Amino acid sequence: MDEIKVFVPATVSNVACGFDIMGFPIEDPGDIMIFRKREDKEIVITRIEGAVDIPKDPVRNVAGVVSRAMLEDQGMPFGLEIEMEKGIKPGSGIGSSGAGSAGAAWAVNQLLGNVYSDEELVSFAMLGEESISGARHADNVAPALLGGFVLIPGYDPLRLVRLQYPADLYCTIFHPQIEIRTRDAREILRKELPLQDAVRQWGNVAGLVAGLMQEDYGLISSSLEDVVAEPVRSLLIPSFDELKQQALAAGALGCSISGSGPAVFALSRGRETAGKVRKAMEKVYQDKEIGWKSYVSAIAEEGVKILS
Ligand code: HSE
Repeated sequence: MDEIKVFVPATVSNVACGFDIMGFPIEDPGDIMIFRKREDKEIVITRIEGAVDIPKDPVRNVAGVVSRAMLEDQGMPFGLEIEMEKGIKPGSGIGSSGAGSAGAAWAVNQLLGNVYSDEELVSFAMLGEESISGARHADNVAPALLGGFVLIPGYDPLRLVRLQYPADLYCTIFHPQIEIRTRDAREILRKELPLQDAVRQWGNVAGLVAGLMQEDYGLISSSLEDVVAEPVRSLLIPSFDELKQQALAAGALGCSISGSGPAVFALSRGRETAGKVRKAMEKVYQDKEIGWKSYVSAIAEEGVKILS
């Protein structure tokens, strides 16, 4: 195989209570990436469409960083030419850098003849995330690579679990068109937590996992609560409280910030309710000057997909 074209889905990470340890891909939007072997040892990014502020310099581009780490690990058997069509806006909260990193890890592994395990691929992809946000987090790259609802019970060593979840769980994404850099959104977080907040948060994580696996919508709903990041980060998202209030009033099981924002996600039982939640959130922004995009999607079973 000398060339591969892949679709890499956007992802919702944190999922309210699971800061850095939970995420899932959605069906749309996503990035398209092409990787072509070169006979020399160069890695070049020849085309980036759909985003103006992503560097083509492979040392500063997450796909370049991940590709180089993998190829060097294999003794640089070939170089690469990379093309990207960004469907996921950088600084959106739905895993733009995660998609670039995961797409590179997955595609380069194919070009190498499938030599790495899932854990190894996630570890390579995290190098891309680290290069851009300063944090080695897997809650976007792991679900983008594995598909489904992914739990990361530990980082050292890396552990990955694909959770069962109810088939009629749907996600609404509301994305105000402002940009928040993950690096900045991490810097403003509290570095220490009162014990009672920690107890509440890990209770929610456990409740969400149990609720998903037992298809207990009441438990899913009561566990979709974040007392760690949301109280601080929500201040960066115009009308966050109203978006959340309206989403819940329209029937959502829960609503919180997607990743580091500004996108807001809600989970609902059934596509119809998720559509009502979308309309309710859109209404909050109808008279605002800030533009928005919104999506309704099932939790995508598959992560990165081959297009050709
Ligand atoms: N868990 C990460 C954060 C996700 O919240 O900073 C960033 O996409």
